[in-house]
Amino acid sequence: MLDFAIRMAQDAGRLLRDRVNTTIDIGHKGAINVVTDVDIASEQLIRDAIATHYPRHEVLAEEGGLSESKSEYRWVIDPLDGTTNFTHGYPVFCVSIALERQGETILGVVYDPMRDELFAAERGGGAALNHRPIHVSKIDNLMMSLLSTGFPYNIKTSTLTNLDHWANFAMNAQAVRRDGAAAIDLCYVACGRYDGFWELNLSPWDTAAGALIVEEAGGRVTDFSGNSFSNYTPQVLASNGLIHERIIEVLAMDKK
Ligand code: IPD
Ligand code: CA
Ligand code: CA
Repeated sequence: MLDFAIRMAQDAGRLLRDRVNTTIDIGHKGAINVVTDVDIASEQLIRDAIATHYPRHEVLAEEGGLSESKSEYRWVIDPLDGTTNFTHGYPVFCVSIALERQGETILGVVYDPMRDELFAAERGGGAALNHRPIHVSKIDNLMMSLLSTGFPYNIKTSTLTNLDHWANFAMNAQAVRRDGAAAIDLCYVACGRYDGFWELNLSPWDTAAGALIVEEAGGRVTDFSGNSFSNYTPQVLASNGLIHERIIEVLAMDKK
């Protein structure tokens, strides 16, 4: 099933790459939360492939939601992670596909079509970038760490803006980035480009594949307090493990 997931991610990724910087239909899910005909087409391609090969499996995907079944398998899919980037031609976006069995993620694939980078992991089998094993970084000092985060779509109306954490990490890490695709952020922790990533309002399709890829690359994934992570936990903290406790301390700063 990993090979099948890889093929779907690459097929959908090619569709994204072919459509970037072309005319696209943009609709609004919220004031700044957009969806395009390309999100929909990518999801349809993936749903069709699953329906053909595994018709009994359940599917949870961002645009169409949950198609329930009695299967122990559930595919968790973001057909286009980084839609805002995509609509601006900013070349950071991907396809994210995970498979859960009885609620546990057993495989995850994230494909970045602009760099032709394929991140993949199977539970217990390690993580790979373009079929070569990857590992998290070895940096153990937050002040020398490169971190990443994102901001929620409801930032303008919610009290949970993440700006407090952003400011605290700007002062306590080497540098902080906001690249706009959570699945790629997680994979960059897995391969050591980032040392840590946190975000507070994510959905299962943003994190399911990337979280497994981080863990299989030797990293740690929890909520902001260090409790174990599930795909259905909106708070995500992923790191190389070595700076994890220090990140938790900084995340707690504003609570004091
Ligand atoms: C979004 C991206 C972004 C993150 C948002 C997500 P979408 O996903 O991953 O980086 O900050 O919270 O919703 O809408 O582009 O699939
Ligand atoms: Ca997403
Ligand atoms: Ca999406």
